[in-house]
Amino acid sequence: MESLARSAVRNMPTLSWGEYPEGVVRLQFGENPYVFGPARVAATAALGKMNRYPDAQKSALRRLVAARDGVTYGQVYVGNGVDGLIELVAKTYLEEGDTVLVPGPTFPCYAAATHLLGATVRTVALDENWALPRADWAAALADQPKVVWLAQPNNPTGNQLVTPTEIAQWVAEHPRTMWVVDETYFELGGETVLPLVAEGKYPNLVVFRGFSKGYGLAGLRVGLVYGDEAMIALLQKVEGSSQVFAVNQVALAAAEAVLRHPQEAAAFVREYQQAKEEYVTALTALPDVQVRPTLTSFCLFRVPMLAEEYRRGLLRRGVALKPMGIFAQRDPHLCLSAVPHPDDLPTVMGALRAELAAQGHGGS
Ligand SMILES: Cc1ncc(COP(=O)(O)O)c(C=O)c1O
Repeated sequence: MESLARSAVRNMPTLSWGEYPEGVVRLQFGENPYVFGPARVAATAALGKMNRYPDAQKSALRRLVAARDGVTYGQVYVGNGVDGLIELVAKTYLEEGDTVLVPGPTFPCYAAATHLLGATVRTVALDENWALPRADWAAALADQPKVVWLAQPNNPTGNQLVTPTEIAQWVAEHPRTMWVVDETYFELGGETVLPLVAEGKYPNLVVFRGFSKGYGLAGLRVGLVYGDEAMIALLQKVEGSSQVFAVNQVALAAAEAVLRHPQEAAAFVREYQQAKEEYVTALTALPDVQVRPTLTSFCLFRVPMLAEEYRRGLLRRGVALKPMGIFAQRDPHLCLSAVPHPDDLPTVMGALRAELAAQGHGGS
C-alpha cells in the first residue's frame, strides 16, 4: 500500500539502471573487462567458508589499506561498494530539511540517497565546457549545505572538476558542511585529497575509493571510506544498527588480494589503461566521430546522429553502449562506452563502423 510508505519514498523518483541484454558485448556500465587473477583465487578460496559470517570489522582489509595509504586503522572503513557507502554517509548525516550540494550533471546515486532521507538536492550546473562555475558554487556554499557530494573525476563528464587545493580550502572554510570526495576512478587518473585525511585535521572530509573500476571487482561490491576517526566510528555505529555484515567475505577476500599483490595489481591497472588507450585511438579513427578525454572507466564520444538512434542500431549488431542521456538536453549526440576486452575489440569496432555507415557516415 503506497500510502503507508514514508513520504520521502513516495516523493522520490524511480531511477532506471538500464537493461541487461544477453549475448551482446556489454559496454554500457563502465565495467573493467578484465578479472584480476589473485582476486579470483582468493574469492574462490573464501567460498569454502560460506557457512561462516564475515568479519563485521573488516579488520584484515582495513589493516592492509591503512599500511598502503598512510592512514590509521581507525581512519578507514569498508562498505558494500561506494554505492553502499554513499547510502551509509547519507543515513548518518541527512534528514528532512537538510540540503545537499552537487555539481550537475553527476553520479545519480548522490541525489538518490539524499532523496531517500527526505533531504533536498541543490545543483550547480556545469558550464558548456563542463567546468564548475566558481561564482555559482561559492554562492551555493554560502548557504551552508549539510553535505557536498563531489565525484573526482566526475561521472558522466569524465573530467576533474576542482583541484585538491580548492577542496582543502573549502573544507577548512566550511566546517559545518560534510565534504564527500568520491575518488572511485582514482586508479585511472586524477588527483587525490587522501593526504588531507592522513593529516587528521579535517573532521568534515570524507573520501571514497573503489575496487569496481581499477581492479575489476564491480560484481563483488566493495568500497573504501576514509575520514576522521570519530566520523568512521559514526559510520560503524549506523552500519552496526542496520547492515552489520554489509560486505561479504568473498568480496573482502578479493579486495585483500588486491592489497596483498601490489605489483600485480599495478600491472593489471596498466594493462587496463593500455586497453583504454587503444580503444580511444580506434574510436578517434571513426568517420565523423569526436572523442572526448576522460579520466574514468568509460570513453566518451560524439556521433553525428542521435546517440539513442546509434545505440539502438548497435544493439542489433550485438554491442550495448549508453547514450549520455543525463546530458541529453545539452547534447543528444554523446555516447558513453566502457573499454572492451581486446578479444571483443574487432567485433565492437566492426559494429561501430557498420552502424555509422548504415546511417550515411563513411564507407561500409
Ligand atoms: C562517481 C561514482 N561513484 C561510485 C560509483 C559506484 O561504485 P561502486 O561500484 O564501488 O559502488 C560509480 C559507478 O559508476 C561512480 O561513477
